[in-house]
Amino acid sequence: MSENRTFDLTQAPPVEEPARQYYYMEKLRGLVADQSKELGRPLTASVVTFGCQMNARDSEKLKGILREAGYQEGSEEDADFVIYNTCTVRENANNKVYGRLGQAQSRKRNHPWMKIALCGCMMQEPEEVEKIKKSYRFVNLVFGTHNIYKFAELLARTFDEKMVVDVWKETDQIVENLPVERKYAFKSGVNIMFGCNNFCSYCIVPYVRGRERSRRPEEIIAEIKKLADDGVTEIMLLGQNVNSYGRGLPQEISFAQLLRQVEAVPGIRRIRFMTSHPKDLSRELIETMAASDKICRHLHLPLQSGSSRILKRMNRKYDKEQYLRLVEDIRRAMPDIALTTDIIVGFPGETEEDFLETMDVVRRVEYDSAFTFLYSKRSGTPAASFEDQVPEDVAKDRFDRLLALVQEIGRKKAKALESSEAVALVEEKNAQDPAMVTGRLDNNSVVHLKGSEADIGHYIPVRLAECRGFYYIGERLS
Ligand code: SAH
Ligand code: SF4
Ligand code: F3S
Repeated sequence: MSENRTFDLTQAPPVEEPARQYYYMEKLRGLVADQSKELGRPLTASVVTFGCQMNARDSEKLKGILREAGYQEGSEEDADFVIYNTCTVRENANNKVYGRLGQAQSRKRNHPWMKIALCGCMMQEPEEVEKIKKSYRFVNLVFGTHNIYKFAELLARTFDEKMVVDVWKETDQIVENLPVERKYAFKSGVNIMFGCNNFCSYCIVPYVRGRERSRRPEEIIAEIKKLADDGVTEIMLLGQNVNSYGRGLPQEISFAQLLRQVEAVPGIRRIRFMTSHPKDLSRELIETMAASDKICRHLHLPLQSGSSRILKRMNRKYDKEQYLRLVEDIRRAMPDIALTTDIIVGFPGETEEDFLETMDVVRRVEYDSAFTFLYSKRSGTPAASFEDQVPEDVAKDRFDRLLALVQEIGRKKAKALESSEAVALVEEKNAQDPAMVTGRLDNNSVVHLKGSEADIGHYIPVRLAECRGFYYIGERLS
């Protein structure tokens, strides 16, 4: 996905994108080569990712640019350049970054040429950037989520300036056709939209990722075609709320229509997507999924709370009954679908009764798995100023009860598929056992089976011989 153009570096950089960034990548190649000559070895870089799939995909873009610039991949512990791609969705995500920065600082003391960059969602918060400018002067580069495409240009500046800080409040720009380095050869995330307009009252994402904007379907399909030509067979379409895809585009298109276009791309065998907001999940989407043999039988449908009163305070725009009805519709159309969810415990004002409503929904829906979170107060969000914050010990107690229930149901659901047959896409070698490989089923469950590196990227029919908690040991059927 890179452009091999050459530029006259004595001339001013082009103004238009992405040409301007390719000019800076070429410039970086010279700067990196000079430094590596001095050191007598190649320069290495490491991108450390926190947070969600969006950040993981952004990190692949950063890695693509680093590769073009001439860096080799290194590890966080010894790289010449470390980039922290941060998340700020909960307080503990921020704390983790500061811990790691401290470690990087002590290494930089002995390796003065080392560079450190910070980017991602946490950098969209002005207080954090101020803190870094004041107390973390050893950081070379700070940028945000909106100008990530300018990474090459900003990095080039760090060769002349001590600290480069460039964070934008907002953007409506989408820059296409920059290099990307994928983690897996056979599967890839594809952004279909950026930002979020939902403003759930607890959530920082709309403030740090900006307003919702969709990529044009032609660009998405062109990217997927290129990926398919490159050997990718599984695609994960990414957006904070994929169900509202297409709003605001010159030619309106629904998410279900986009899915049908993706299905038609030769070579694509599995299609996944994240995340679906229950309020926007359409009948058309359910029908499209049910009619498809490529769209995976898995839906991540964040519940957040089972109490209609709390859902209202969360600004989720559905209530308990609507959610349960939606699940019923989905299950009627696809009885074998795996459902997973996100749940927040201890949202301000949550009473024991509210919490029991959440437990009730979990029992009724029987999720295959669920991410459970303790509510974390994010300054600037409406919920941060709600008065009736739940005491920590009460929230923790509810969290433990919910987790126990979620796990009990998850085990039961996994066990029910024991002995059945399925197809695994093998993703990697098994970390513990060199004679085994690890794959994923259509429903997103993990299966370990006998195999070798040669199986990676292949679809292998298996019998789910043994269920061990939430995963399986599979026997190959071919
Ligand atoms: N766009 C996605 C989720 C983005 S954040 C969606 O709407 O589903 C991922 C999850 O983090 C959310 O689903 C929510 O459960 C959790 N989360 C977000 N803000 C939180 C907060 N302040 N405290 C605890 N959990 C939070
Ligand atoms: Fe956050 Fe809600 Fe947007 Fe998801 S839909 S990113 S939870 S504001
Ligand atoms: Fe975190 Fe940003 Fe994702 S805040 S959850 S990395 S969108």
